[in-house]
Amino acid sequence: MMAEKGGYRHFMLKEIYEQPRAVADTIAGRLKDEEGDVHLESLGLDDKELQSLKKVFIIACGTSWHAALVGKFYIEKLARIPVEVDIASEFRYRDPIVDEDTLTLLISQSGETADTLAGLREAKGKGGRTVCICNVVDSSIARESDGVIYTHAGPEIGVASTKAFTTQLIGLYLFALRLGRVRGQLSAEECRRRVAELVSLPRKLETALELDVPIENIAKAFAHARDFLYLGRGNQYPIALEGALKLKEISYIHAEGYPAGEMKHGPIALIDENLPVVVLVPHNETYEKVISNMEEVRARGGRVIAVATRAETGLRDKCDALIELPETSDELMPILTSVPLQLLAYHVAVIKGTDVDQPRNLAKSVTVE
Ligand code: G6P
Repeated sequence: MMAEKGGYRHFMLKEIYEQPRAVADTIAGRLKDEEGDVHLESLGLDDKELQSLKKVFIIACGTSWHAALVGKFYIEKLARIPVEVDIASEFRYRDPIVDEDTLTLLISQSGETADTLAGLREAKGKGGRTVCICNVVDSSIARESDGVIYTHAGPEIGVASTKAFTTQLIGLYLFALRLGRVRGQLSAEECRRRVAELVSLPRKLETALELDVPIENIAKAFAHARDFLYLGRGNQYPIALEGALKLKEISYIHAEGYPAGEMKHGPIALIDENLPVVVLVPHNETYEKVISNMEEVRARGGRVIAVATRAETGLRDKCDALIELPETSDELMPILTSVPLQLLAYHVAVIKGTDVDQPRNLAKSVTVE
């Protein structure tokens, strides 16, 4: 049956709105309430094997690579295993150091991306363990990996990935919690606390979606810009990259994502009144530093769109537009900050009159290397 837009103007918008449900479905059935533990059904690795891992690679392309960058924070923080993230097309040509204590995690919405599949075969060929995070049951990558964590996003039709991305982050978080528990890095109580926050996330995503109209107004004010800069720090840096990619993909506006602390080493030269800067500033340990980056942008005439949490006071006069999200843990915040950036890209593209669901030159799944 042909997929339907269910009253939405585009599949992309429908899929953005499906995120609370998609996230809830990806969590469902994987939490063991009594122990506060995470259960992943077809991981393909038993507890002993998880305990013996010494290194993790995460390999992916495009938006899935941005999820991988967040995954590094999750696994290193919660399970204390060194993680290296690679773009799939780079991984296999550099003779990566993989052995039987190395886990290679493949992330792919479609499970058919040729470069990611080649990375999987490279890791397997070197005797490593492989697990994929995938949205399509029985896809090539799902079939060939030792284990699979399915995202339950449902079919994603829009070429620009949205709900697949946020559910990939959920898959990575669940995996990191499981790994942290098995390896004795997380107590049952620490895990239970995180699981409780995770369960409250779909409701917070609903609240984030209520910002649709204000974000459409921000899009109207900035859609004429030729370039955009996105800044984030820590686990928000990959979200800055993803926000910039979304805008590029569907509105054809040039956009760059940058680690906020690196701004002074180059992008600051670009700042003037014609360059909108989207700054991700949820409250975390680098909050003050990112605020001072924001002030540097404004001191040079740049216009700032700030994405912050609601509890933050005093931000309004430091930026030109403010997007206020509900609070969650620092670990889950990337999932919430993704939503306004998806909506911003969507509305800018609609204003520009592009083909939102099928942007020029792009394919949903790239099956050639
Ligand atoms: C294409 C799509 C992107 C996607 C990337 C990786 O470029 O347009 O949206 O992120 O492939 O796809 P995958 O299915 O492996 O996640």
